[in-house]
Amino acid sequence: MISFTETLSIIKQGIQDIYYPEQPSNLYTPISYLLDLKGKKVRPALTLLTYNLYKENIKEALPMALAWEIFHNFTLMHDDVMDNADVRRGQPTVHKKWDENTAILSGDSMLILAYQYALKSPAKDIRALLNLFSKTAMEICEGQQYDMEFEFRSDVTEEEYLKMIRLKTAVMLGGASQSGAMIAEASEKDSQALYDFGINLGLAFQIQDDILDVYGNSSVFGKNIGGDILCGKKTYLLTSAMSLSDKNTRKELIDWLNYKEEGKEKIKIEAVTAIYDKLLIKEKAYSKKESFYEKALQALDEVSVPDNKKEVLRKLAADLMERNS
Ligand code: IPE
Ligand code: IPE
Ligand code: MG
Ligand code: MG
Ligand code: MG
Repeated sequence: MISFTETLSIIKQGIQDIYYPEQPSNLYTPISYLLDLKGKKVRPALTLLTYNLYKENIKEALPMALAWEIFHNFTLMHDDVMDNADVRRGQPTVHKKWDENTAILSGDSMLILAYQYALKSPAKDIRALLNLFSKTAMEICEGQQYDMEFEFRSDVTEEEYLKMIRLKTAVMLGGASQSGAMIAEASEKDSQALYDFGINLGLAFQIQDDILDVYGNSSVFGKNIGGDILCGKKTYLLTSAMSLSDKNTRKELIDWLNYKEEGKEKIKIEAVTAIYDKLLIKEKAYSKKESFYEKALQALDEVSVPDNKKEVLRKLAADLMERNS
């Protein structure tokens, strides 16, 4: 079994080894810029670690692991345009450092690069692997579409929110986990259990992301705090606040969300956060996150490999629940 730290150095080396043509440099430089910034590498680690539950030669799962990481970074490059975000991993976003057209086209190229890596996988059933990759990619676009549409609604339910984050975030952790098992030719049952593990971990992961967007420390989190509030994002915090508040507080909340005065962003973020505090929303979000984490661990229990082999994945899941970045 390899450790999480070992997977990280294999992934980092894999990223360093990506070949970029020299020209046109304004197409390729933003790609390496974003990929070289410090990220947690959760998705590629899941692919390597689930593969390693069955087989030792984890280099076999590396192309697929890199495909997920490149794909993930493509979604971030476009997501930052869509969310009007200035900072990513503590550095200027690509559309700020270059411009929006650059973020669109370099992002598109990353999507292609991701497929090129997925195709390199020495999987017996490469068609099934690519089907998983494509299904996941399409679902993420669906999730991002809902995420944007929800910005214009104030009646988004918890159920709708959960469907949206399953699509925009959880399916990639599910797909990354399942793909390692597929490349290692695990049973259908195990492969499904690992998908469920990733999905539930992903749901918990996005709720944690929503919490950090309000309560995190921007220099550790690497993103500006309050971005979700300013965009009117329907996060777990906001949908819960809407359903838990009385009529007056709900009106106050909606008024603040509609408040668009330039230069007063800080006041708006503070006011919405104060309403969350009053309603104990952070505590509610923690307990929802915890319930998905428990489900993830239960799914992992269903996987038919000796229990001690699952420790690395359990530790990774536990660390992600406590993450600050
Ligand atoms: C950010 O993902 C996008 C979400 C799904 C919340 P990560 O938090 O995994 O980002 P990096 O790769 O570690 O920067
Ligand atoms: C993450 O949503 C989903 C994707 C990027 C596909 P967020 O918009 O919450 O991610 P961050 O917070 O910008 O990393
Ligand atoms: Mg977004
Ligand atoms: Mg975003
Ligand atoms: Mg976020």
